[in-house]
Amino acid sequence: MALDVGQRDWPACTADAIFSANTFHIMSWAEVVMLLQRAAQLLPTAGVLAIYGPFQYAGQHTSVSNRQFDLMLQRPRSAFRHTGCIRGPARRTGRGLLLEADHAMPANNRVLVLRKAVRPGACLR
Ligand SMILES: C[S@@+](CC[C@H](N)C(=O)[O-])C[C@H]1O[C@@H](n2cnc3c(N)ncnc32)[C@H](O)[C@@H]1O
Repeated sequence: MALDVGQRDWPACTADAIFSANTFHIMSWAEVVMLLQRAAQLLPTAGVLAIYGPFQYAGQHTSVSNRQFDLMLQRPRSAFRHTGCIRGPARRTGRGLLLEADHAMPANNRVLVLRKAVRPGACLR
């Protein structure tokens, strides 16, 4: 299905898990937050949202090539996201998405694993 995460009404669908690759640094911040909110609504309890791509940590890039790539992105819409900035909106989505794991991947990429909380207010970290 074609999906613009920023669209008001997503097509009716169910999902056991959601995976998105190389999108968080391309879509706008508002769209990133929208994806987190919709994923939290869509996923079953303990369901997983996995996000692959490059990220910043405490304002630092993980490599020179990542910093150079980030500088080439179409601001203000696109930019490398700080993992710390993803945690907050993810958790504040009613039944929060909690950052469960952050895996290093080749080519200075990561996979962030967010899991839907088993109950409102639950927290892993
Ligand atoms: C760098 S490409 C990644 C493509 C592929 N996932 C990959 O990993 O090779 C970024 C993708 O983000 C998609 N994208 C950007 N904004 C979007 C939005 N608001 N809703 C859905 N997809 C979006 C673009 O259509 C594009 O396919």
